[in-house]
Amino acid sequence: MLDLLITNATLPDGRCDMSVAVQAGRITEVTAGLRAAAAETVDAAGQLLTPPFCDPHFHMDATLSYGLPRVNESGTLLEGIAVWGELKPQLRADDIIERALAYCDWAVARGLLAIRSHVDTSDPSMLPVEALLEVRRRVAGVIDLQLVAFPQDGVLRAPRGMENLERALDLGVDVVGGIPHFERTMSEGAASVRLLCELAAERGKLVDMHCDETDDPLSRHIETLAFETQRLGLQGRVNGSHCTSMHGMDNYYVSKLLPLIAQSGVSVIANPLINITLQGRHDGYPKRRGMTRVPELMAAGVNVAFGHDCVMDPWYGMGSADMLEVAHMGLHVAQMTSRTGMQACFDAVTTNAAQVMHLDGYGIAAGCEASFVLLQAGDAIEAIRLRANRLKVWKRGVVLAETPHVAAALRVPGRPGAVTFTAPARR
Ligand code: FE2
Repeated sequence: MLDLLITNATLPDGRCDMSVAVQAGRITEVTAGLRAAAAETVDAAGQLLTPPFCDPHFHMDATLSYGLPRVNESGTLLEGIAVWGELKPQLRADDIIERALAYCDWAVARGLLAIRSHVDTSDPSMLPVEALLEVRRRVAGVIDLQLVAFPQDGVLRAPRGMENLERALDLGVDVVGGIPHFERTMSEGAASVRLLCELAAERGKLVDMHCDETDDPLSRHIETLAFETQRLGLQGRVNGSHCTSMHGMDNYYVSKLLPLIAQSGVSVIANPLINITLQGRHDGYPKRRGMTRVPELMAAGVNVAFGHDCVMDPWYGMGSADMLEVAHMGLHVAQMTSRTGMQACFDAVTTNAAQVMHLDGYGIAAGCEASFVLLQAGDAIEAIRLRANRLKVWKRGVVLAETPHVAAALRVPGRPGAVTFTAPARR
């Protein structure tokens, strides 16, 4: 007998009336219309069953610290870094852990079960690193928490920056980070990319750099990152995060750059909520949108994912671990309004993000981990439109969180789960 059978589910690729059979925490079969004996059977009633949301770019050491020690009044990236610098000497490991665990609870409620978090390695005390390693231990088995050694103050610019970053890797941090646009000069930025990629190649690590998170169209570290990836044979193991300078780059240059990124197998993460609020701050009107060229990168064959980046921290006072909100903003800022484009925005917070993170056993297919989310929506596009309610969240076949069915589901009439009104507005 099966442990769990979910029937009548719609999958993100559009297949309907699908049954998902689960045994010992794994999916054993995904077939249309399957009926079989199971300890528990859940009728999905035609609603969307998706693999868990994945956030490939987050800062869990800073989350929920909004207002500490003060609010970022200008709203700029640089004032955010300054506020974080003021908070750092006051940080206590217990506080970081408590805030991060509170965020992890939000994440579970939202069906967000894989998070790649950068962790600041600039402080020789390694306090944020130790704190997030502890969080990773505590949430293991529930959230796949991947940590990136992130030299917030610049690996070459900050005293002993490289040494501190290497210490973080020695302690168990998973991925090599970087911030070339924050180094002192363009050439030091390029040097940092080279050194960090060499370090990752030596240690067999993935790379994920904050890359060109600026409106300066001449910030071209993504080019160096793609070059070093090819030179060192790191194809498929490197990611450029943000890449906002690409928004304002010369179009002719971009026409050469996009194939280079695609050939190098470098993936790109845009962070729509943060990019649209932090970038363009030096512009008069018209103001740039401040997000990288998502549809063009996708069309060139680059894997593009969306991250949340920040929730209630020195850079962003909003957010609630809702990756559908991230997809919703990405869709608008990138003007991805075709059916294909909207679907791609859903993929950007699920499968594309899982690919960036190299997650094993991710997906709704036989052999995958039985982790998924039942949404109160008929398909992926409706899920984004509604920032849909998470009815149930499973991890390895076990329910982690449930949210009651929302009556006012605002569904298109005639679709599964549409509201039955007792007192409709239309009389
Ligand atoms: Fe970031």
